[in-house]
Amino acid sequence: MRVRDKVVVITGGGSGIGAALARRFAAEGAAAVVVADLDGDAAHTVATTVGGDAYGCDVADSAAVDDLVRMTFRRHGRVDLFCSNAGITTGVGLDDPLDLWHKAFDVNVLAHVWAARAVLPHMLERGSGWLLATASAAGLLTAPGDAPYTVTKHGAVALAEWLAVTYGGRGIGVSVLCPLGVATPLLLDALAAGESGAHAVAASGTVISADEVAAAAVTGLIDERFLILPHPEVGRFWAQKAADPDRWLAGVRRLTAAHPAPPAHPAPPAHPAPPAESEQP
Ligand SMILES: NC(=O)c1ccc[n+]([C@@H]2O[C@H](COP(=O)([O-])OP(=O)(O)OC[C@H]3O[C@@H](n4cnc5c(N)ncnc54)[C@H](O)[C@@H]3O)[C@@H](O)[C@H]2O)c1
Repeated sequence: MRVRDKVVVITGGGSGIGAALARRFAAEGAAAVVVADLDGDAAHTVATTVGGDAYGCDVADSAAVDDLVRMTFRRHGRVDLFCSNAGITTGVGLDDPLDLWHKAFDVNVLAHVWAARAVLPHMLERGSGWLLATASAAGLLTAPGDAPYTVTKHGAVALAEWLAVTYGGRGIGVSVLCPLGVATPLLLDALAAGESGAHAVAASGTVISADEVAAAAVTGLIDERFLILPHPEVGRFWAQKAADPDRWLAGVRRLTAAHPAPPAHPAPPAHPAPPAESEQP
């Protein structure tokens, strides 16, 4: 799957990873780059930079996602690659407001459903097309400090798997992008606000740039990989978790207790490595 000459749509394209994908896809020679974001001005700024189109679009609104796809068809005749990238963190646990749980499900899970519903009929008719969902390492492991994020990112990975199983034999490609910490406003603003979950992410491994994530996405697409891991260690943690979940959980709990985070509460690494042999229970 090469991006050259492809018509690409990117949600959450006004900032961070989405903006980096837009820049990278334009540099790779995409036929059109459509930048969609809740923040229409941000989408416009990025679109101007890459010579693309900008749309203000709330991905939690299925009608707005339909409109985005319809407008792209009207202007470019097709969608070859839909990057369902917009996402939000909440920084909350069990006792926090229910509306944050609903919002996380809307943006981090259902938006991927709306995107697939909007583009798949056309892609199936043509017998080709690609869906790239940005989930997170939290969708394979866990994100202490953010229960809705963990649960909904697992949902995003599960949906991508289901789509790959159901449509993969019919010319449709599906990839899911699962980075660990990335230096974007999503993480950096939360760090500045002192959110323990964000401090946990920063403490858990290397924080890479959005451009590095975009480069990994392009490589993963060329290799036609389902699971794209810009941080390779995430694959190792995931395999170790699958091999022995109880041992992994024990290690996470131990590491959680060992990693205090500012301002005053203990904070674990967000996606902790399984314990070393010497640390095993
Ligand atoms: N930054 C990280 O450490 C990190 C790690 C793993 C996964 N991710 C995921 O990467 C994706 C992009 O995040 P980012 O780090 O670039 O964050 P970001 O905050 O820089 O960018 C997210 C963009 O999504 C837009 N957005 C938010 N809600 C929207 C909605 N309802 N409709 C349309 N657009 C909306 C925002 O306006 C913003 O421009 C998210 O899905 C996030 O969960 C980020």
